[in-house]
Amino acid sequence: MSDGRRPLVAGNWKMNKTAAEAREFCTALASLLGPDPPADVVVCPPFTALEAVVVALGSSPIAVYAQAVHGAAGGPHTGEISADMLRATGVVGTLVGHSERRAARETDEQVAQSLRAGLDAGLMVVLCCGESLGTRRGGGTERWVAAQVASALAAVHPGDGDRLVIAYEPIWAIGTGETASPAEAQEACAIVRAVASERVDGAALRVLYGGSVTPANAAALMAQPDVDGVLVGGASLEPGSFARIVAAAG
Ligand code: 13P
Repeated sequence: MSDGRRPLVAGNWKMNKTAAEAREFCTALASLLGPDPPADVVVCPPFTALEAVVVALGSSPIAVYAQAVHGAAGGPHTGEISADMLRATGVVGTLVGHSERRAARETDEQVAQSLRAGLDAGLMVVLCCGESLGTRRGGGTERWVAAQVASALAAVHPGDGDRLVIAYEPIWAIGTGETASPAEAQEACAIVRAVASERVDGAALRVLYGGSVTPANAAALMAQPDVDGVLVGGASLEPGSFARIVAAAG
């Protein structure tokens, strides 16, 4: 973390929690964090729990982001959700390009369209990127991550920088218990910042690490100069464990 950038800790719930379970989580988390947590705190519930979470978090400092957004404003896209629909629900941001969606079907072009749609609707957007184990072993991490970031950021204008966050999430570390070392996270996040600097103010951009973040490893990861926070999957599902990760940002 650098002095000028406020840390951001985001929990990606993926396909977990009903609306009722989400409400219960939010009550517990808001009371654990209190009114002044040491980081910007974000939860990303599934679409079906967004409205319940927005209401449950009320005036707490915890922000609500979606996990994905479609690139089009509306029309024949069965099962998809637009950026304006998210806004109207009280959601203030969204992830785009998570590797689990890229693996299922999302192309670089669709990720760029989702990014643009989110920004156009006034949302914060967390662009996800990261390489597979095969790419890392082949020495291709830098090239892969740089290409993903450059491709998505072609859709970004210089003035969008303050609503953009980029999360480096190596696929081999997601849900595996195998976290990148602080040095590996630092190296990749520095590459992300350098590439993004061609489109936005890199010194102000927040770059997160994601992949098997836990209360035990979060502080060492966030101590790295180019790691401005974490995007947490499994360890964000339980209020106590997520609150300990937020505390590690302080
Ligand atoms: P885990 O923290 O469960 O590895 O998931 C990371 C992730 O994909 C967050 O978006």
